[in-house]
Amino acid sequence: MTMQTIQANNYPIYFNEKAYEALNLHISQNKYSNIFIIVDSNTNEFCLPKLLPLIETDLNVEIIEFEAGEENKNIETCVEIWKVLTELGGDRKSLVLNLGGGVVTDLGGFVASTFKRGVDFIHIPTTLLSMVDASVGGKNGVDLGNLKNQIGVINVPNMVLIDTQFLETVPQNEMRSGLAEMLKHGLIYDKKYWEEFLDISTIDFDALDQLIYRSVEIKNEIVKQDPTEKNIRKALNFGHTLGHAIEGYFLENENKTTLLHGEAIAVGMILESFISLHKGLITKEEYIQIKTVLKSIYEDITFEEEDIEPILDLLIHDKKNEYGSIQFALIEGIGKIKINQEVENELILEAFEDYKS
Ligand SMILES: NC(=O)c1ccc[n+]([C@@H]2O[C@H](COP(=O)([O-])OP(=O)(O)OC[C@H]3O[C@@H](n4cnc5c(N)ncnc54)[C@H](O)[C@@H]3O)[C@@H](O)[C@H]2O)c1
Ligand SMILES: [Zn+2]
Repeated sequence: MTMQTIQANNYPIYFNEKAYEALNLHISQNKYSNIFIIVDSNTNEFCLPKLLPLIETDLNVEIIEFEAGEENKNIETCVEIWKVLTELGGDRKSLVLNLGGGVVTDLGGFVASTFKRGVDFIHIPTTLLSMVDASVGGKNGVDLGNLKNQIGVINVPNMVLIDTQFLETVPQNEMRSGLAEMLKHGLIYDKKYWEEFLDISTIDFDALDQLIYRSVEIKNEIVKQDPTEKNIRKALNFGHTLGHAIEGYFLENENKTTLLHGEAIAVGMILESFISLHKGLITKEEYIQIKTVLKSIYEDITFEEEDIEPILDLLIHDKKNEYGSIQFALIEGIGKIKINQEVENELILEAFEDYKS
């Protein structure tokens, strides 16, 4: 189905068949010296063979691959890629295509934004999460140890190309991970959209295209109003204040299986909905609905007594904290947000207790 182009701050987001037309036109209209495609080990295998035949150019195209995984979204990988770019003749007029999930678009966007003080780059997201979230909004960066996205820049790509056919090879658990961000978009911005997910079993692939489109629209509308996250953009942090801390803790802890981003965010959304309930912002019914839907999609995560302290410690390092206090983006009814909410530790502990029940 045809989906209209979405205009973001200074860059367009093209969908499906329109994407390659736009890409080829862009390449032909700019005097690039060469093209670098950054991939991870999986997108090299599953996505690059789909993309390469569709690029029309006489320019030299080089592929730069790094090992897939969040643990490689760090400055060491960037250093490797900056070196390879240099060795392969990268210059101010190089074009970088980031073909992959959020790890590739975040890291590749950062690499391109800093190489030679910034070269052109285009995001081609290949996971659900990167389509509806990571590739939209101009945030790029890498992790610093277990501190997520600690280093980075806000800098927009020339364009984003969303081809939902890439999703064919994405594993189920990764699809679920991306779904968490779509559910978040409903919870913070659009009640009707949230309600489309109440019966998840009825969603087929065609409907998914439309849901992705709406999700990109929501993310874009929010970012456009506040690109540098002074106010409304903080809404996108719903579920993420606790979710990031949980994700970071599970990542560094050898006794824990690493959580996918969306899996951690799903827990974070349940916890932060509980907090919203206890701040009188949502009703018991709304809370039960949110918890029920999320628990029906995502497996329960086990928290031991001794896990909670270190998670709270990580929370303090969360980059969203201003002036030392922990600020939450909570929901005020489904589809509306209330940002800059201070939450006492006691209530966070209660939220974890309730999650376990
Ligand atoms: N910049 C932002 O605003 C923003 C927003 C949300 C999330 N993020 C970041 O995004 C990252 C998570 O993104 P993600 O969930 O896409 O993770 P990811 O990039 O690690 O991709 C998930 C897995 O799927 C593989 N994969 C990717 N495309 C595939 C395909 N088409 N077929 C088969 N396998 C494929 C990847 O190799 C990886 O193993 C996190 O680092 C998070 O911090 C950034
Ligand atoms: Zn997220």
